[in-house]
Amino acid sequence: MEKDIKEKIDKLRKEIKKHNEAYYLKENPLISDFEYDELFRELKKLEDKFPTYNPSEKMTTKVSGGISKRFEPYRHAIRMYSLDNSNNYEDLKKFDTRVKKELGIQSCEYVCELKIDGLACSLTYEKGVLTVGATRGDGAIGENITENIKTVHGICHKLKEPLNLQVRGEVFMKISSFETLNAESAKKGEKIFANPRNAASGSLRQLDIDITKQRNLEFFAYDVIFEDENFMQTRFKSLKKLEELGFSVNKTSEKVKSIEEAINFCQKWEDKRFSLDYPTDGVVVKVDNLSFERELGFTSRAPKWATAFKFPPEEVWTTLNSVEFSVGKSGAITPVANLKPVKLAGTIVKRASLHNFDEIQRLKLSIGDDVLVKKAAEIIPKVVDSRHVENQHYKIIEPPKFCPSCNSVVVRPENEVNYYCVNPNCAQQKRAKLEFFASKDAMDIEGFGPSIIEQLYNKKMVENFSDFYKLQEEDFLKLDLIKEKSASNLFQAIQKSKHCSLQKFLTALGIKHVGKETAFLVCEKFENIDQIKNAGVEDFESIEGIGLRIAESLYDYFHFEENLKVIDSMLSLGVEPISENKKIQSENFKGKTFVITGTLSKKRQFYEEMIKSHGGKTSNSVSKNTSFLLAGENPGSKFDKAKLLHIIILSEDEFLEMLKEK
Ligand code: IVH
Repeated sequence: MEKDIKEKIDKLRKEIKKHNEAYYLKENPLISDFEYDELFRELKKLEDKFPTYNPSEKMTTKVSGGISKRFEPYRHAIRMYSLDNSNNYEDLKKFDTRVKKELGIQSCEYVCELKIDGLACSLTYEKGVLTVGATRGDGAIGENITENIKTVHGICHKLKEPLNLQVRGEVFMKISSFETLNAESAKKGEKIFANPRNAASGSLRQLDIDITKQRNLEFFAYDVIFEDENFMQTRFKSLKKLEELGFSVNKTSEKVKSIEEAINFCQKWEDKRFSLDYPTDGVVVKVDNLSFERELGFTSRAPKWATAFKFPPEEVWTTLNSVEFSVGKSGAITPVANLKPVKLAGTIVKRASLHNFDEIQRLKLSIGDDVLVKKAAEIIPKVVDSRHVENQHYKIIEPPKFCPSCNSVVVRPENEVNYYCVNPNCAQQKRAKLEFFASKDAMDIEGFGPSIIEQLYNKKMVENFSDFYKLQEEDFLKLDLIKEKSASNLFQAIQKSKHCSLQKFLTALGIKHVGKETAFLVCEKFENIDQIKNAGVEDFESIEGIGLRIAESLYDYFHFEENLKVIDSMLSLGVEPISENKKIQSENFKGKTFVITGTLSKKRQFYEEMIKSHGGKTSNSVSKNTSFLLAGENPGSKFDKAKLLHIIILSEDEFLEMLKEK
């Protein structure tokens, strides 16, 4: 065996040992899980190829983990295992082929479970009573954390049946709890956890049980071992049994008929995982039939009947090349990180948000640092951690003194984390306001992305919100690459946006501190824009969820002459915000059901609200119970069906006429 291979193995073993200690014992990982898995796979290849080299030091055939001296060691009556993992679907297919070959079967059913990113624990029950709770440790010996485990939600202290059994599952921290914990720790200057897994591990393994209790840990049970191994036939049924016994079990688990269906499950959750409030880093695929599982057995490290598919990393380390400042719609100046391009959750990331200047100081960031970039529910990734790189040349990041767009002096109001450009004529700020006005959560003007808005602004065609409604179809032909068809679409999109909800209209104004949630609260109290215009600070403040800062911001906005002029101009150009909680206006449509089809000149939502506010109902499909079909241009199959059933078909004008009747 060559010397450099030995050196490589030694180096990797040393490196992985260091990372195991940092991860399992100090709850302070030095690298991302993805990088760790890469190192592990590299070592596995070498250890598999050269099995005789220093076998007592072998790492990839053991369960990794650590036992701290803080707790009593606990020898597991039944070993705990790790899982083999892969990051590609080919490996899942190979797993399936091996399973079927070993069992001599043609097809195999699996259970797919999300792999929760917490820490594995084993619970022992005697006659239905929880007697021991322990961490996994190295699989043979873990830490006895019985008292701590009793504070975790989702764990039964007493089962619904007096059984002797062991339950295994994952203790984890919800993402929202993790964020609150870190925000509170930052205020107190205490330890910030890099991710929910470390936070869960650090919180569970506390000597002061009150601290564990305050951390709101949760548990999902994923395995149960009964005294009688034939008590259950399938894994999926045993998950149901765990639920019956009183455990919390992850509801997303599915039984599938083939590895292809398991792959579909993985694909589905690759994106959907960002909508969950708990951390998951992959999918565990397990053979469903428990007698098949027993036949397959275990290696020294992992079961042969299960494998984990790891999602592409949600967070990855890269280098911070520079920091740029950009002005948002409220004038807030946000730092944006320019990164060494890196692949993250399937896309190449070059820029990430740094939120505000306080965040730069909290992360102790300098240019040249390594930064941990994370993809969260939002599309824009954010920087969540940083580390200095040895021998790297640093450059301190100075707070902005001038607006990056208009160069006017910036201010930082008291108690604010942001610096602001307060020049009302700042070009970038104005463009950002216009972009936001047209965006989905606001007026939802289809097709008005940053490039169209930039052109409209630069050509001085749109300077304030009301200018959108002054544009004629032919005006769009002055823009790059816009031909008749697109010009018509853009023009129509603006006309459609005139009929919007009051909440969207209020959101679209881009009032400082007033996002869509606050706008919703305001619109629950007020029915039209006039009422909002005439409200006093105390009227806004009396709304639950609105404090003085927001109330003053709303009041100031509606008492600034220029803002009122723009609003009035929009209203006179036909913008018609409608309150969604508008009282019933008439009973003209009482007992009538409408179906809407085709392209209409106003938003469908407008008609739906009209129908509701006049006592009618809407439905998506035509049946003999349909009273009217409101048909726009190019109606679809609903039109034919309505004709067939002799249902009255209305044009938009006829519909509006009906409202005037009586
Ligand atoms: S099964 C013998 N199922 O992943 C079976 N593990 O890397 C071993 N994990 O130690 C575990 N969610 O901490 C299983 N639904 C799930 C899981 C899961 C998370 C963790 C567990 C385990 C680690 C293996």
